[in-house]
Amino acid sequence: MIASVSTVAYLGLEARGVEVQCNLVAGLPSFVVVGLPDKAVAESRERVRAAIAAIGLALPPKRIILNLSPADLPKEGSHFDLPIALALLAAMGVADAETLSGYVVVGELGLDGRIAPSPGVLLAALHASAEGKGLVCPVAQGPEAAWAGSVEVVAAPDLIGLLNHFKGNQLLPAAPAGEMEEPGRGPDLAQVKGQETAKRALEIAAAGGHNMLMVGPPGAGKSLLASCLPGILPPLDAAEALEVSMVGSVSGTLSGGRLTRTRPFRSPHHSASMAALTGGGLKVKPGEVSLAHLGVLFLDELPEFQRAVLDSLRQPLEAGVVSVARANAHVTFPARVQLIAAMNPCRCGHLGDPALACARAPRCAADYQAKVSGPLLDRIDLHVEVQPVTAADLVLPPPAESSVEVSARVAAARTLQSARYRDVAARTNAEAEGEVLAEFATPDEAGRKLLAQAAEAMRLSARGYTRVLRVARTIADLAAVDAVGRMHVAEALSYRRHAPRS
Ligand SMILES: Nc1ncnc2c1ncn2[C@@H]1O[C@H](COP(=O)(O)OP(=O)(O)OP(=O)(O)O)[C@@H](O)[C@H]1O
Ligand SMILES: [Mg+2]
Repeated sequence: MIASVSTVAYLGLEARGVEVQCNLVAGLPSFVVVGLPDKAVAESRERVRAAIAAIGLALPPKRIILNLSPADLPKEGSHFDLPIALALLAAMGVADAETLSGYVVVGELGLDGRIAPSPGVLLAALHASAEGKGLVCPVAQGPEAAWAGSVEVVAAPDLIGLLNHFKGNQLLPAAPAGEMEEPGRGPDLAQVKGQETAKRALEIAAAGGHNMLMVGPPGAGKSLLASCLPGILPPLDAAEALEVSMVGSVSGTLSGGRLTRTRPFRSPHHSASMAALTGGGLKVKPGEVSLAHLGVLFLDELPEFQRAVLDSLRQPLEAGVVSVARANAHVTFPARVQLIAAMNPCRCGHLGDPALACARAPRCAADYQAKVSGPLLDRIDLHVEVQPVTAADLVLPPPAESSVEVSARVAAARTLQSARYRDVAARTNAEAEGEVLAEFATPDEAGRKLLAQAAEAMRLSARGYTRVLRVARTIADLAAVDAVGRMHVAEALSYRRHAPRS
């Protein structure tokens, strides 16, 4: 008899339905898994064999054939253990195939029959919900699966518990709803002394979701400023939190099934590889740029990253998605991030200060800055020079605004934006494109004139031009003004990088 159980294969953030079919045929006893299993799936034979032995059953002395259909879709991950075991038990007549057909099953098996967590349960639950089925998952991931809403979740601790549940001997308790973590705030802006220009730029970046680069000597507070950003960004709304959690779910970083409303803030070390940043590797996992989806990707010490790695960010930064090409599939992950970068102006870091600069200045600065490619810099809307803090500011700092006050202004500006872009595929000014941008961000007469002159003098690229418009729109939003004026354009231009002289 052929028994089949539904499960899923993960392709990026998509869960594709997979049917696990089991057939027992006469012949020499053997156990084969076909249908493009990867190493972890092929090894599941041993775990399934041991788990079934652990519940006191012997495998039938037959040829056991397991097919994962569709057969041409690559299957990766350990979550195929449980559906394979259940298909086999159904074929043996131990489990009821009819009941099982109403569920999507995911979970890894231990040798003792325990069901261990595996990444991607939230996606499987959403898939089950769309198919109108229930979900069988590991007990530890019940709360995560419960986020999918209307789906019946059977969160089982072990194989025997699951079989008893389906037989009606001992029902498993319903999975508790997952918790929503309240947004955390990192360091407070009030502790940053001086640096008013950088703080203003940080506020604009937060309000409009713009990319930003801080250049300055060591110890001026660049890393500190960046770490204050999560505290002034508005929390994720419910739909966004689910989107971010889906990335967390496939990468296995969702602890305890808790969803969080804090925007992601990822700061990979500069030794990161291309696969670590954009995703990929032997098993396709989301990279840092996807883990930072709808949040902040902070690249500290920007020129120290490998150039090829930085340039691999160019396409995701523009498109908001990253496609990883594999030999047999294309995997797409979302990557709508705000890039915040920090760097020293030269290797010694003291370029502008004749007393401290090294003997090679300014030549070393050109070499150092050339490590970051022009096209990447062109994608950065706000270039800020962070000057060293003065002794006066350190000893007797003027009263500084706290993150709470700044975040209130940022939230107000974001509310204006979400109302404006309600009907289009953009959330913030940084995402506004083409006609939408032209409609809402075209400056008044004086602003237009200034922009035209500046575009000529600063040799702005077409991208640079639209990016100035977006920043000007955000500055106007922060001031709660409808029309973009000359002042807003002027401030936006002041944050633009000057094209190097040729
Ligand atoms: N403006 C500031 N106000 C208050 N404290 C500051 C300021 N700037 C720096 N500090 C203090 O100095 C420490 C180091 O600053 P930070 O790491 O931000 O420097 P940086 O600009 O990133 O330097 P580097 O270029 O070496 O990475 C901070 O943790 C903080 O304690
Ligand atoms: Mg630093």
